[in-house]
Amino acid sequence: MQPLASLLLLAALNVHPASAALKEYTLDVVNAPIAPDGFNRIGILANGTFPGPLLTANKGDTVKVTFNNKLTDESMRVSTSIDFEGVLKDTASVFDEGSPFVTQCPFGPNTSYTYTLPLGEQSGSAWYHSQLSLQYADGLRGVFIIYDPDDPLKHLYDVDDESTIWSLADWWHNTSTVSLMSYNLTQIIPLQDSGLFNGVGRFVGGPEIPFAVQTVTKGTRYRFRLINISVRRQVFVSIDNHTMTVIEVDGTPTQPLEVNILSVMPGARFSVVVTANQAVDNYWINAIPMDPGNPNKNPVFDPDLSRGVLHYAGAPDAEPTTPMTEGPQGADANLLQEHELRPFFPTPPPEPDFILNFTTSMPVGETVWLFNGSQYESPKVPTLIKILDGASNAVDFNKTENTFIFPRNKTVEINFLPDPENELHPFTLHGNRFWVIKSNESDIINTVNPPIRDVAAKGNGGTILRFTTDKPGPWFFHCHIFWHFWAGLGAVMVSDPEGIRQQVKPTEAWDELCPAYNALPAVEQ
Ligand SMILES: *[C@@H]1O[C@H](CO)[C@@H](O)[C@H](O)[C@H]1NC(C)=O
Ligand SMILES: *[C@@H]1O[C@H](CO)[C@@H](O)[C@H](O)[C@H]1NC(C)=O
Ligand SMILES: *[C@@H]1O[C@H](CO)[C@@H](O)[C@H](O)[C@H]1NC(C)=O
Ligand SMILES: *[C@@H]1O[C@H](CO)[C@@H](O)[C@H](O)[C@H]1NC(C)=O
Ligand SMILES: *[C@@H]1O[C@H](CO)[C@@H](O)[C@H](O)[C@H]1NC(C)=O
Ligand SMILES: *[C@@H]1O[C@H](CO)[C@@H](O)[C@H](O)[C@H]1NC(C)=O
Ligand SMILES: *[C@@H]1O[C@H](CO)[C@@H](O)[C@H](O)[C@H]1NC(C)=O
Ligand SMILES: *[C@@H]1O[C@H](CO)[C@@H](O)[C@H](O)[C@H]1NC(C)=O
Ligand SMILES: *[C@@H]1O[C@H](CO)[C@@H](O)[C@H](O)[C@H]1NC(C)=O
Ligand SMILES: *[C@@H]1O[C@H](CO)[C@@H](O)[C@H](O)[C@H]1NC(C)=O
Ligand SMILES: *[C@@H]1O[C@H](CO)[C@@H](O)[C@H](O)[C@H]1NC(C)=O
Repeated sequence: MQPLASLLLLAALNVHPASAALKEYTLDVVNAPIAPDGFNRIGILANGTFPGPLLTANKGDTVKVTFNNKLTDESMRVSTSIDFEGVLKDTASVFDEGSPFVTQCPFGPNTSYTYTLPLGEQSGSAWYHSQLSLQYADGLRGVFIIYDPDDPLKHLYDVDDESTIWSLADWWHNTSTVSLMSYNLTQIIPLQDSGLFNGVGRFVGGPEIPFAVQTVTKGTRYRFRLINISVRRQVFVSIDNHTMTVIEVDGTPTQPLEVNILSVMPGARFSVVVTANQAVDNYWINAIPMDPGNPNKNPVFDPDLSRGVLHYAGAPDAEPTTPMTEGPQGADANLLQEHELRPFFPTPPPEPDFILNFTTSMPVGETVWLFNGSQYESPKVPTLIKILDGASNAVDFNKTENTFIFPRNKTVEINFLPDPENELHPFTLHGNRFWVIKSNESDIINTVNPPIRDVAAKGNGGTILRFTTDKPGPWFFHCHIFWHFWAGLGAVMVSDPEGIRQQVKPTEAWDELCPAYNALPAVEQ
């Protein structure tokens, strides 16, 4: 049997390793002051920090995360709904998948909601964030790591713990509400004010607050987990004088691939092994957000101020004395090419039963993104509720719900043909993984051992993805640039409506979400 299929089957059968444990976390969602780059603002924060507290579990555990919504500042959204991105859901728990108006209604201030996540056989680097509007730009995002005690690549590294997680983020001084109003008026996405490496960054004219430091010991091999919790920009990561060996992409172990620079799209996760094999010294970790230039210019944003320090134990406690660069360029750059990634356990994708040709487009002069000609709008009644109430066909959904329905156990190919539209759209499929048959950047079509991911870029080069519908559920498929998503670049892929009705048994707490949300005054939604 194919490992991917057996993995899903094990998850479906709830076969947990002997070590399976129940892990419970509580997070208070609060409005609190925060200044990751030295500029004070009020954020929407899990337990008052940015990023929110690190959540960890082992393969096989069941994790329960209770969010107490204590938001009060109505200049930002005060309801919320949390997505655990990169965590595979089995059908039974799909109602705890966190997608507002697809799998649940958001929950309002002064209420709590507990997400139950049976992890099954999966492991890898994931994260959590508000999935409501652009709320996660205000800070509600954090890292979630599922460790595998039997990692097949364990022999390649010595250290993999809380100290080796690298979060990459963009940060705005204005609230997302203010930024969205500006975007809506101008079609120009307000450029971030700073890029944060492990929650620390600088902006032009701001204080020189100390960059985050990663201490290493000479001769030791580290597994660094790079997690892009950005809303907008991709980040190019490199370490002066060091190479990186990629061993994981989006929760899937890969065959080791050495590079010296890699681009991390929002939503994407990589693990890289770095050997501390250089002279005892301090080296820049360059985490450079792509600078789009005009018209998005922001005078306080300098991509070169987004960085950390790789500090060898024994070196002076100081910043590197070398220039702040953007890492290897031109002929010196050995940039990770997505199509070169090989899963550690390759699975040939089945031949497609359905081929869907899609486009992305933005009408001139409107802040609207069209998914195959249609702007996604959240319905009032979540997709899952409609299905539980009997919806089974496309005609049961409004056209603006961009809902596509498939029978069980089929293979669907999503085909973004080459087209002139060349914005970066990192498309993500919730709760599932897909095969990247063709990467935007390459003409190679790989149906033998293609990368397995849950986020992949659509540009103008053409991108082909395949997924199987063996897990009944309504799965959000959207651009992870939340500005584009907000403006309509989303769809819902529904696998097996009848299977959903048979297997999904939501809790009473879930049943109460929509009546409670619909009763809230608009400012509290
Ligand atoms: C968040 O804060 C609450 C209240 O102080 C605390 O009980 C909880 O343990 C914290 N959660 C984490 C993950 O640190
Ligand atoms: C939340 O509870 C507090 C304390 O009971 C109350 O003052 C406040 O008005 C409530 N807020 C909302 C939005 O219901
Ligand atoms: C953000 O706030 C600053 C300072 O108040 C202002 O100059 C800028 O125009 C704002 N940006 C947007 C997108 O509204
Ligand atoms: C965005 O702009 C349109 C008009 O161009 C307006 O109808 C809509 O209410 C605006 N949305 C928001 C959230 O400001
Ligand atoms: C995170 O993703 C955004 C959006 O694609 C991208 O612009 C940014 O460069 C990424 N960050 C990193 C560190 O790769
Ligand atoms: C790091 O690399 C640069 C450029 O290749 C080189 O000039 C420099 O000597 C190296 N530094 C160390 C400490 O090896
Ligand atoms: C996408 O839109 C085109 C043009 O309207 C249409 O021909 C095609 O069938 C649509 N694709 C799907 C999968 O519905
Ligand atoms: C999808 O695009 C391919 C070209 O790559 C074309 O051969 C095929 O007919 C298209 N399918 C539909 C349903 O439009
Ligand atoms: C479908 O969506 C449109 C646009 O939001 C709305 O005007 C219409 O009432 C909706 N139709 C149904 C049947 O919900
Ligand atoms: C789908 O596949 C699963 C596992 O391979 C099998 O148990 C199930 O009966 C299949 N369902 C359908 C509707 O074919
Ligand atoms: C997509 O790939 C094409 C062809 O390599 C390239 O020219 C284009 O810049 C890429 N688009 C994005 C958004 O990366």
